[in-house]
Amino acid sequence: MGNFDVMPDRHNTNTWKWDGEGKGALYPMGTADMDFRMPDVIRDALHQKIDQGVLSYAADKSYFSEAFARYQKKHYGLEIDPSDVFCGTALMAVYKVLLETYTAPGDGVIVQTPTFGHLYNVPRNNGRMVYENRLLYNREEGTWTINFEELETMVKDPRVRMLVVCNPGNPVTRGLTEEEMKRMYDLCNANDVIMLSDEIHSDVYYDGRKHVSVLHVCDEAQHNCILLTSPGKVFGVPGLKIAITVIHDPKLKARYQVVSNNCRVDVIDLGMVAVAAGFDGADAYIAELQEALQKNKDYIVKFFAENDMKIRLTKPEASYLFWLDFSDWNMSCAELAELLKKYGIVYSDGTEFGPGNEGFMRMNIATTFTQVCGMCDALKKCYTENIA
Ligand SMILES: Cc1ncc(COP(=O)(O)O)c(C=O)c1O
Repeated sequence: MGNFDVMPDRHNTNTWKWDGEGKGALYPMGTADMDFRMPDVIRDALHQKIDQGVLSYAADKSYFSEAFARYQKKHYGLEIDPSDVFCGTALMAVYKVLLETYTAPGDGVIVQTPTFGHLYNVPRNNGRMVYENRLLYNREEGTWTINFEELETMVKDPRVRMLVVCNPGNPVTRGLTEEEMKRMYDLCNANDVIMLSDEIHSDVYYDGRKHVSVLHVCDEAQHNCILLTSPGKVFGVPGLKIAITVIHDPKLKARYQVVSNNCRVDVIDLGMVAVAAGFDGADAYIAELQEALQKNKDYIVKFFAENDMKIRLTKPEASYLFWLDFSDWNMSCAELAELLKKYGIVYSDGTEFGPGNEGFMRMNIATTFTQVCGMCDALKKCYTENIA
């Protein structure tokens, strides 16, 4: 049995997914972490560091930036200068620092929804004017596309300083195409708007699709371009809270250096040691993970196609977070959550992903195949007994 067929016992491990929101549930499939053990190289690196007996301040962090640059080259063909790589603790904390670096209260920030709620809430709760560029939903096809017409008008508004993109999209599982990414970048650059691309889910794609980073489509000088990412998802170490920012544009970089120094945006050496080991030594793990998730995805897509449960599954292209439209059940997210819980299922409420998502739920499929099959049967039972 491989790593991805076996679930470590996660009960009583103080994990939010199992002991918090999913306590007592058979199928806790909300919070975005994986039910898989981290790669052995990462566990070994952590043990070695701990065995030194002192967790100290790091003398040199360049090994981390260099390992990240090697990883990006190997997996995505990107040429990243290690001196453009900044690390920090928690993507959302770094996001707030980035907002403070480049925007002022009252400035406009465009956010494409549905999206990871904090991408929307952090600017809104910090006095920025959020321009909601809602993705266009094709209910019949189960697809979400960018509303370029609206976006073009928004980026031209002189108050707008930043466009926030989530690629691949959480929760819509879109892996944006080169054409879409390039068109957004060109629009931003022409209007001196920063394009900030959150690519934390870039390591999981289905059916041979390839990730297109903002760094693939920007101009050579990387004007107005920021990449934000984290290896926490792919290596199963979100609790290490590592965030990575790549800023090459000299004007943007100089400002970030000052602001991030001022608030000591940093990351613990334990975390850097761990993921650097993963960057160089976890390729086999990533390949097996992709295979396991592809199997889960194929099963779910087939199950939903063969069993009409009046739930529309957004076509999954990337990431392990799937987006479900329950609007034909005519229930609020709170009511859905209560009903699903009776069948042992916990998902994330659609209302966490920006305005207008009542009746949607997000399902995390990064678990064993056995769990996925059990969850599908429980969902069908729930539908049959309550909705059909
Ligand atoms: C799109 C996106 N960005 C960021 C994060 C995580 O941020 P943090 O490092 O603050 O936990 C997540 C976690 O689920 C996410 O889905």
